Amino acid sequence: MKFIVFHGSPRKNQNSDTLVDYFIRGLKLGGDKEIKHFYTNELNIKPCQGCLTCATSADHSCAIKDDMVEVYSAYKKANTIVFATPMYWGYMTAQLKTVFDRMEALAWEGFGNKTFVVIITYRHHCESTIAFFERIAPFFNIKLFIITCRTYNEDEQKDIPISMCQDQLEEAYRLGIELGKIEKEKD
Ligand SMILES: Cc1cc2nc3c(=O)[nH]c(=O)nc-3n(C[C@H](O)[C@H](O)[C@H](O)COP(=O)(O)O)c2cc1C
Repeated sequence: MKFIVFHGSPRKNQNSDTLVDYFIRGLKLGGDKEIKHFYTNELNIKPCQGCLTCATSADHSCAIKDDMVEVYSAYKKANTIVFATPMYWGYMTAQLKTVFDRMEALAWEGFGNKTFVVIITYRHHCESTIAFFERIAPFFNIKLFIITCRTYNEDEQKDIPISMCQDQLEEAYRLGIELGKIEKEKD
């Protein structure tokens, strides 16, 4: 499959998932696409133990054999990776960060030369997560697209339903169309 989606939120079909949904609708406009979804909250993944087996072993494989085995395989085959996450205490969710830490095993070879679509929903700030992706993208030769969506009304001090964030939903949809076209041209 060419596309994989990491759903970082434990809340299925809520804000970040809805933006992903619009992105995929756009992506599929020019024809069906093979997309692999990983709901990080449901994965059986142990946090990285920092053993650096991946650094020293001949095939750079991770010492822990859990659901990351499937993630590694899918990641290597994919061209475009979607990371969708709400901000949790200033960063991506712990579920998605756990996946990222374990991607250390891919960083020795096979992590880069991909397209990353980063979808972030937040109440107050998302700069730290944007900064992380912007820092690694040039290093790994990653083409980066970031969509951010504030799901909070400051004046009324309350959450906004994602259905009210039409500009961002449209942005996600249009990006899907654009990346779908690029992928089709490569076929
Ligand atoms: C535990 C927790 C921590 C959060 N921390 C932040 C934060 O640090 N910054 C922020 O802007 N929003 C924060 N939020 C708000 C969410 O990022 C926001 O409501 C988001 O739209 C939820 O997306 P989802 O529906 O995809 O889960 C937090 C929400 C929760 C539940």
